[in-house]
Amino acid sequence: GFYVGTAVAGGGHHLEQDYPDPFTSDRKYRKILGQQFNSVSPENQMKWEFLHPERDRYDFEAADAIVEFAQRHKQVVRGHTLLWHSQNPEWLEEGDFSKEELRAILHDHITTVVGRYAGKIQQWDVANEIFDEQGNLRTEENIWIRELGPGIIADAFRWAHQADPKAKLFFNDYGVEDVNAKSDAYHELTRELLAQGVPVHGFSAQAHLSMRYGFPSSLEENLRRFDELGLETAITELDVRMDLPESGKPTRAQLEQQADWYQRTLSACLAVADCNSFTIWGFTDKYSWVPVFFEGEGSATVMTEDFVRKPAFHALRSTL
Ligand code: XIL
Repeated sequence: GFYVGTAVAGGGHHLEQDYPDPFTSDRKYRKILGQQFNSVSPENQMKWEFLHPERDRYDFEAADAIVEFAQRHKQVVRGHTLLWHSQNPEWLEEGDFSKEELRAILHDHITTVVGRYAGKIQQWDVANEIFDEQGNLRTEENIWIRELGPGIIADAFRWAHQADPKAKLFFNDYGVEDVNAKSDAYHELTRELLAQGVPVHGFSAQAHLSMRYGFPSSLEENLRRFDELGLETAITELDVRMDLPESGKPTRAQLEQQADWYQRTLSACLAVADCNSFTIWGFTDKYSWVPVFFEGEGSATVMTEDFVRKPAFHALRSTL
């Protein structure tokens, strides 16, 4: 009943355009993916820009391939994501739609996508990163909230639930590991939505951690307060990045601290009753998004670029 997952790299994403897709072309990668995990999350392939490249066209090829792979390997899938401010197609962000049209577009997308994979997705990140660091809704950045108002969030959950009544529906964000302004905002919002009978089932912390800052030491306490609302909780995108020395290779001390952080994150989840899903954001540095997005930082996953297991890999294994 406990799920250990990874993001599945591929389908374009932060790697160069013509970079061979790891999921389809790297045999070693696929082998480890099939063997070491019982949950998978498409890193990009279920985002709007991949699934919905034109207003009247969906492209399910890459997402279907991951779902089929997961079924063949008896893995569950976390769907990611339906309502987000980022990685939306240009036709949507730049389009000139009325409110009624936008509402219909979101309804159609959720119904089509969630419906297609109904019964095959364990958890959906319905709403991703809707609050900023201060705990304010991203009213400017998020096209849905900006154009349709915050009520659209509840609608997204209702539509997803209609399309797949068995899938667990989540709020997902980064920077919400600790008890802080941002996680407070989620706590408040989910309490309200639950009181209104909106089908919200889970709250998850991405956990993109950096050794530049401290470990989020109230993680367990934070997950627990959501658990107490009756929600499931999850860790969905764990990686632990660090500043790399000149040599480009982490020191032993860095790797040990990293292992400790991986282990503590897993332990926090294991300690909370309904935290049943723990996902790392890729398992090899070969395809990690970290060096591309965070200058000077890297080595954030549990295996080197050559798939050599780091102390973090062993720390997770010995904790499970
Ligand atoms: C990242 C992917 O890892 C990259 O490949 C992509 O270029 C950008 O997005 N929060 C999320 C994820 O919810 O979807 C992001 O994934 C990382 C931060």
